Amino acid sequence: MMEENLYRDIEEIIEKYKGEATPLLSILQEVQEKFHYLPRNVLGYIAKKMDIPSSTVYGVATFYSFLETNPVGEYVIRVCKSTPCHVQGAFNVLQVLKRELGLKEGETSKDGKFTLEVTSCLGVCGVAPAMMINDVTYGNLNDERVREILALYRR
Ligand code: FES
Repeated sequence: MMEENLYRDIEEIIEKYKGEATPLLSILQEVQEKFHYLPRNVLGYIAKKMDIPSSTVYGVATFYSFLETNPVGEYVIRVCKSTPCHVQGAFNVLQVLKRELGLKEGETSKDGKFTLEVTSCLGVCGVAPAMMINDVTYGNLNDERVREILALYRR
């Protein structure tokens, strides 16, 4: 039953983007919002329904760092590692997060709450160093601010 609902939801999302010239990325983003990540069987189903090779769908899903093909935590923290953030202290931000969460890059906490990742430019270089937690962007980070932000998600 759950599987049935899952596939029906995917079909609805695909239908919504019908008529768009390049709908695949939007579809993958929306499917991920719903299911938190993009399992292989889901990618295969999308390929079948859109009548495109599954290698194409998988290629897109693994190309973008904001798309997840493995299970992730409730909150995915993405620390920008591109040069403007790097020179403003992104390495330190990452160290604080690693210490606070007891995680390495790419790991998810045992309680399933946090996943820690690094990513390239988030488009907010003016407030470097920056990170995102799910859809929310945080800038001008320092040790104290990182701890304050984490506290909001630990409640
Ligand atoms: S380099 Fe970090 S947001 Fe652009």
